[in-house]
Order: sequence, then C-alpha cells, then structure tokens
Amino acid sequence: MPVQPETNLFYADRVLNLGHRGASHDAPENTLPAFRLAAEMGADGVELDAQLSADGEVVVIHDFRVDKTTGGHGPVKAKTVAELKTLDAGGHFGPQFAGTPIPTLQEIFAALGPVLLFNIELKTMSLRDEGLEAEVIRLVEDFGLQDRVLLSSFNPFALQRAFRANPRIKRGLLWDPALPFFLRWQLFRPLAHPHMFHPQWQAVTPAMMERERRRGMRVNVWTCNDPAAMRRLAAMGVASIMTDRPDLLKQVLDEFKAN
Ligand code: G3P
Ligand code: CA
Repeated sequence: MPVQPETNLFYADRVLNLGHRGASHDAPENTLPAFRLAAEMGADGVELDAQLSADGEVVVIHDFRVDKTTGGHGPVKAKTVAELKTLDAGGHFGPQFAGTPIPTLQEIFAALGPVLLFNIELKTMSLRDEGLEAEVIRLVEDFGLQDRVLLSSFNPFALQRAFRANPRIKRGLLWDPALPFFLRWQLFRPLAHPHMFHPQWQAVTPAMMERERRRGMRVNVWTCNDPAAMRRLAAMGVASIMTDRPDLLKQVLDEFKAN
C-alpha cells in the first residue's frame, strides 16, 4: 500500500514556536488575549489546558481549581460553564485585562482555528472516562482542525481514550523527571500510542533525542524561556519549543535558520 504523505502541520521541517498557555508572559494565561498575542508575536501555535465543566463543555484553564487565576473558589469540574463565565481570568494579571473570561475550546477554535496550531493538553488524571477526550475530539472534527491539532497529556489513559475515539488525531506523551515512578518509567506508554514525546526541556539530552528518534517520535519540549537554551534545543533537533515568550523564541529561531 502506498504511504500517505503526512498532512498534520506539527510535522514541519523547521522548529515550531508554540506559545505556552498563549503568550503567557505578556497576557493572562489560557485566555483569548494571550492566544491572539501569541499569533501576533509570530508563534506557529499555542499550548493550552483543557478540562470539562460540570455540564460537559471543554473549558481552557490550567489548575483543577479556579482559585489561582480567577476571583472564584472551588474545582473547575464542579462549576457549569455559565458559572465559570462569571469569573475574571484576566484581572490577576493586570487591570487592563480585568473581566477577561475563561474561554471555551469552541470559542478559541471559532476565533483562531484557521490561524494557529493547537497543542491541547488533556488536563485530567482520571483513570475513568469522564468524556473529556471525546468532547475535545468532537470539537476538533466539527471545526475540521485535525491537521492543526496535537493532543497531549501526562496521563497515558487519557491518550488511550483519545486513541480509541479517533486514532488519526496526533498524540504526544508528556514527561517530567519529577513524575511518580509509574509515569516517570513510562510503564503505560504503549497504551497511549504516542506519535510524539514531550519532555520538560531541562531533562532533554542527546541520548534521549536519539532514543526517541529511533522510536520514530518527534520531540516537543516545554517550557523554555531562556534564549541560550532555546538555541541548544533547536540544535539538538527538537520539533517544537513551548515558551511563555513566543516573541523571544521567534528571534532565536529566525537567527537559527539564518545560520
Ligand atoms: O504541555 C506542557 C506543559 O504545559 C505541561 O505542564 O503544568 O504547564 O501544564 P503545565
Ligand atoms: Ca499545560
């Protein structure tokens, strides 16, 4: 059978620039202003954190509780989308962002779907299927964004559920040397059927790059804001760099390309 050419845009022949939670150094993380700013700064795409509201909508927020980035209290999953929408996800960052709401994934796709690539972190540690993966995939399919999306998670069971819902949507396994041993040793990695490996940037070594290359993985690293390290990682052959500073990364990658 002829091999189909890869159409997913995360398979680029240059290092991709991904704004971590948007341009989160300069705008409130995981909000539309932060994603728009990342696009304006020249990012290829963004990383964002997806969770389910109590009434089953995919909302974009990092913490499992709303307390740190909004004026509210309590778990995200205990609140309906209408309740989450009353919270201010921008005021903590600066008065000019006061009143910025928590976005839904649908709103982000509607506003920026044709503009950005999306590394969607499935923010769940659940072993049970709570419906997050199927709902994210339904939105990706409805907006026709299969080639602009990569699903990622620290939770291999979440990636397995994504694989079962639509095996063609690309998956990346997140990794941090500080994870509990069963995740650190990647005991459940085969369940996730990953296409890509997402290590914390300081843990990347030439030996890791070689091991992942032999496995056929692309390596996407998080979250690097240091220009010298960005240069080193690009030279080591990473496929993308997640950064809170896509403006800085753009300068580094432009210089890297020119040399
Ligand atoms: O997706 C990479 C990175 O975002 C994982 O860590 O805590 O920023 O979600 P965290
Ligand atoms: Ca994340």
